[in-house]
Amino acid sequence: MIRSLRGMNDTLEIEDSQRFRYFIETATRVATNYGFRFIQTPQLEETALFKRSVGESSDIVGKEMYQFTDKGDNDVCLRPEGTAGVVRAFVQNKYDRQDQTHRLFYHGSMFRYERPQKGRLRQFHQFGCESFGESSVLEDASLILMVRDIFTALGINFTLKLNSLGDTNCMPQYRETLIKFLDSNEEHVCEDCLRRKGTNPIRVLDCKNSHCQEIYADAPKLMQNLCEGCDTDFKALTDLLDEHGMAYEIDTHLVRGLDYYSKTAFEFISTEIGAQSAIAGGGRYDRLVEFLDGRPTPAIGFAIGIERLMELIKMPEDTREGYYFGAMDENAINKMYKLGMQKRSNHKVTIGYKARNLKAHLKAADKANARYCAILGENELNNNTVWVKDLQEKTESEVPQDKI
Ligand code: HAM
Repeated sequence: MIRSLRGMNDTLEIEDSQRFRYFIETATRVATNYGFRFIQTPQLEETALFKRSVGESSDIVGKEMYQFTDKGDNDVCLRPEGTAGVVRAFVQNKYDRQDQTHRLFYHGSMFRYERPQKGRLRQFHQFGCESFGESSVLEDASLILMVRDIFTALGINFTLKLNSLGDTNCMPQYRETLIKFLDSNEEHVCEDCLRRKGTNPIRVLDCKNSHCQEIYADAPKLMQNLCEGCDTDFKALTDLLDEHGMAYEIDTHLVRGLDYYSKTAFEFISTEIGAQSAIAGGGRYDRLVEFLDGRPTPAIGFAIGIERLMELIKMPEDTREGYYFGAMDENAINKMYKLGMQKRSNHKVTIGYKARNLKAHLKAADKANARYCAILGENELNNNTVWVKDLQEKTESEVPQDKI
């Protein structure tokens, strides 16, 4: 038997597929309310796109890409995340030249060749939002509050971690300060951190090694080395979050695993799903459009990891929907089929093709998760009626065929 690849799952069981759809519908509704519109970009892109955006020093690009040469000799890879493709589309379609704000949302498969474990897959799904053209911290606050609104609508508990990564004014200086600190602790930190010192030093701050973490507790903090502009914006953002009752924890070691961020960086964490606890992550990336050959455009976004939410989503009590149509007599099948097809114009309808007894039809209607079970037997055929059971309210009625 051919099986799916390791770390790549089917969404097949009724409950999973309902949850997945419910998530997409809820997140789409919230994103639309915040003025976002749908964008779809290809799953396969030129490898150079991710090298230039996510960054060659990141684990994602360095170790985890599904990269290959296609039949036309192009160096391509399956997207490990959604932001880079959206920015590419934004620049390619010259949106950077329209002096206006663009807010775009997407959802779909992402691919990272990581070691699979609970909450960590090789093919997973993200729901993401990217906003272009706004440098105001009001937009930073809006995106954070939007994630809150999505999680609240789904009944998901979370904590928000927040940091500022500075900008081109303050980051280079902080880098130097951090490198000096790392030089003086060279013999105490792990191999990975020594390597990162030469490529992207701030990534050492989220090293998973507990010994390194003890050392970094005394490392200089970027938060205390922000330039005036970044400091003012960060303060304004936290004031806004306070005003909107949004609790947060400032985590000066939150540096994110992708290189394109500047200023605001955030992660939403769940304490209910084990080690892979980040359920959403994002931040500002004011320089990325320019890096990908567009006009300088401030931007900010986030992505939610859908699989990590699956066990956290609280579905509405009853998710029954639409109709099940069945016949109890061979003679009634054609009429029943016609009525069911008519109902399909604006309802979800499942049709049982075989004449069966009532018990079998009720069971099938229940399996199809239908709200109503509509049955045509000999009596109904003679009386031009349909017998209908409401499977949620547990009521029954005889309805004229032209009223069903
Ligand atoms: P990220 O933090 O790499 O950010 O991923 C966002 C979310 O995707 C994570 O918080 C997690 O829930 C989920 N995720 C990541 N890797 C896996 C995996 N292997 N298996 C299951 N779920 C996973 C980004 O991807 C950025 N593009 C977010 C962003 C958008 N920043 C600005 N705009």
